[in-house]
Amino acid sequence: MYEQVSHSLLNDILSELDPEIQDEELRYFYTRLGANFYHIYSLFTILYGKRDDLRPQIQALVETMARQYVQRPASLRQSDLVREKNHNWFLSQEWVGMALYADGFARDLPDLIQRVNYFPELGVNMVHLMPMMQCPEGASDGGYAVSDFRQIDSRFGRMEDLQELAGQLRKRDILLTLDVVLNHTSDEHQWAKQARAGDSRYQEYYYIFDNREVPDMFEVSMPEIFPENAPGNFTWDEAMGKWVMTVFNSYQWDLNYSNPSVFIEMLDIILYWANQGADILRLDAVAFLWKKIGSICQNEREAHLLLQLLKDCCQVTAPGVLFIAEAIVAPVEIIKYFGEDAINAKECEIAYNATFMALLWDAVATRNARLLTQGVKSLPDKLDRATWLNYLRCHDDIGLGFDDNDIRAVEYEPHAHRQFLIDYYTGNYEASPARGLPFGHNDKTGDTRISGSLASLAGLESALEAEDSVRIDVAIKTILLLHGMIMAFGGIPLLYYGDAVGTLNDRTYLDDPAKANDSRWAHRPRMDWEKAELRNTPGTVEYRLFTAIKKMIAVRREVAAFADFNNRELLDVGNPHLFVFSRFEYVQPTNRVLVVANFDGAPQHLNLKDIGRRGYFRYGSVRDLYSGERPAMFKEELVVPPYQFYWLTDEVPL
Ligand code: GLC
Repeated sequence: MYEQVSHSLLNDILSELDPEIQDEELRYFYTRLGANFYHIYSLFTILYGKRDDLRPQIQALVETMARQYVQRPASLRQSDLVREKNHNWFLSQEWVGMALYADGFARDLPDLIQRVNYFPELGVNMVHLMPMMQCPEGASDGGYAVSDFRQIDSRFGRMEDLQELAGQLRKRDILLTLDVVLNHTSDEHQWAKQARAGDSRYQEYYYIFDNREVPDMFEVSMPEIFPENAPGNFTWDEAMGKWVMTVFNSYQWDLNYSNPSVFIEMLDIILYWANQGADILRLDAVAFLWKKIGSICQNEREAHLLLQLLKDCCQVTAPGVLFIAEAIVAPVEIIKYFGEDAINAKECEIAYNATFMALLWDAVATRNARLLTQGVKSLPDKLDRATWLNYLRCHDDIGLGFDDNDIRAVEYEPHAHRQFLIDYYTGNYEASPARGLPFGHNDKTGDTRISGSLASLAGLESALEAEDSVRIDVAIKTILLLHGMIMAFGGIPLLYYGDAVGTLNDRTYLDDPAKANDSRWAHRPRMDWEKAELRNTPGTVEYRLFTAIKKMIAVRREVAAFADFNNRELLDVGNPHLFVFSRFEYVQPTNRVLVVANFDGAPQHLNLKDIGRRGYFRYGSVRDLYSGERPAMFKEELVVPPYQFYWLTDEVPL
């Protein structure tokens, strides 16, 4: 938008730019800056307008964008232009992701380079590398306590190794996703060290207090994130003689985004990684970016403004780069990380679908889809050009963050129902085959979250131990059923390393004092490649899982209705065990796929005549896209075997 105040300011800023930058060919930079500047200026002024140094700060902001643009490699600038033209590229059904630790999936980056063909073998073409930036020895919250945002930690390798890996991935058309930890630094970061040494400039980078007065006010309304390991939200720093805000672990110092210098530093870091070749940046813990006394200090309006500002700035320098919002919050809050009051996504283009993930685990435990159907029904519509990451497991715990109203709507009592799920997954429910572990138990609220690998939670570990082939079968079917859902729902399915070969819980973390009190390490194992090799041996569990998931990915790629254009319709079919939705093609909506999932241990029936009244199966002949076969029918009823899913389509008669 053209607006005179900001436009004349922009002209002044540009004339004062460092001559070294001005010499560069900045044509695309200028057009994008012109397009976004009014918005950038407005957001910056809302956030920082009361400060005396607004003018030099906004000068520094533009300089940061310009410098990073100058440094952006020509090949990446070229890919920005291609993506600008084909702006819906990431909504296609062709993308399938995998999240992994470079030192878990492989030994380190050089070893990962050797294993890169595993991705195309399975069909994965988006790789999310968990944080690899320099972090403290010992406890570092799995790399989420960063000591230097521009260095690769030596345990992973060197920057050159990452460059080499990025090149190898690009050669195979695989997208690279990197983590940027926005909310905090480790207490060993240079800024923290300088703050500790008494430098007031860097003390202002954090929330630091002389006494408990303000911290106590904050604590009234702030929940605890790691109540067992890191109770409270502030830590006394002996060297400084002050209190520091530490929402996560005591060694993770929260950054103070009410200071514009912090914003500019972190923007610079985002653009730095964009220039290293990241296609997508996962922005960690974005719900926590803004702190306000009297609030829970999550999902604040200003946190959203900060993300919009980051997006607007990143679009100027590196418009081909997408953001993932890691905001594991209530369903109505998650959706806001795409942005509100807009047509297209304006904060992050991608967000974790934590709601769907938790609902799927509910369906597995209850063997019915009541809450799943209700929860998906309540999920607000996304903006356009926004998409979900649909996942089953990731490096974190499973939080039962469903909406209480949805739980009540399907006639469960919220507290009792959550308690049932916790018991079911953590070994306190006799009939359950799941082998999960409790995480983050909070004595005050009674909340508990759940750790454990997909296979162990789905009952594979206990079935293998019992050498019970029927139960092994059920566990495999459950794992495939769940994958069948994330592949079809709409969005990018994000697999977790090890899951395609049925990796079980790893208990070795208990021997490491830096990990022993954090059960999330049970599902962050070092990949056992000898076991993974069994994916090539027919009849093994690894083979059964791997080949089926590989096939799902290959089929998904061919089904245009699985692209994500908000093209999903949920169907209430009156059978609580079945979860049924349809996906239709964006261009040709009559081309539809009916997704049917049976979460129960008994076969279920679905009356296709009723479905036919809604315009499905005009030719009276139905085929399952996944198996390629006609499913069993009894009269007009489709028979859905236990723990099975279908991707049904009309079969056009010859
Ligand atoms: C995110 C990460 C989690 C980490 C936290 C603090 O939620 O996924 O693993 O503990 O942020 O950085």
